[in-house]
Amino acid sequence: MLEYYPEIRSIHIAAVVVSGSLFAVRGLGLIIGKRWPLSPPLRYLSYTIDTILLTAALLLMTIVRQYPLVHGWLTVKVGLLVLYIALGIMAFRPGPGAGVRFGLWTAALLVYAFIISVAMSHHPLGYFAA
Ligand code: HEM
Repeated sequence: MLEYYPEIRSIHIAAVVVSGSLFAVRGLGLIIGKRWPLSPPLRYLSYTIDTILLTAALLLMTIVRQYPLVHGWLTVKVGLLVLYIALGIMAFRPGPGAGVRFGLWTAALLVYAFIISVAMSHHPLGYFAA
């Protein structure tokens, strides 16, 4: 599997870009009061991309032999992923007004950007590493 490392890494990164962009656009649609962001085709597209992202993540983990709870940057990454998912669920749930939804959506995107910095630096503090 080692020989496929560059391809799997590219798939992981591409899925990160598409998943984050889709979340950003759907969230924006909900904030301005549209219903299309919750349509089944977009929801299933999002689940599919996230499944690809996580499958590639698990393959990369075994290739580079670095694991959550063993390596700090991956522990932080997975912890922040859980936070991102929780914020995303709250942002997409019916109920909150546009202001609260905007706050949750912004917080989720900031967490997502920070996860990328943790991944790129291989450091738990990401952007904030000395
Ligand atoms: C359970 C979730 C995840 C795991 C276990 C995981 C694991 C990994 C691993 C092992 C690598 C390869 C590092 C290397 O080549 O040495 C990687 C790369 C990367 N991951 Fe993830 N990942 C996860 C989720 C995410 C998420 C949600 C994002 C974005 C928000 C992300 C962004 C990236 C990026 C940008 C890289 C490329 C870093 C670089 O080498 O420049 N990952 N990930």
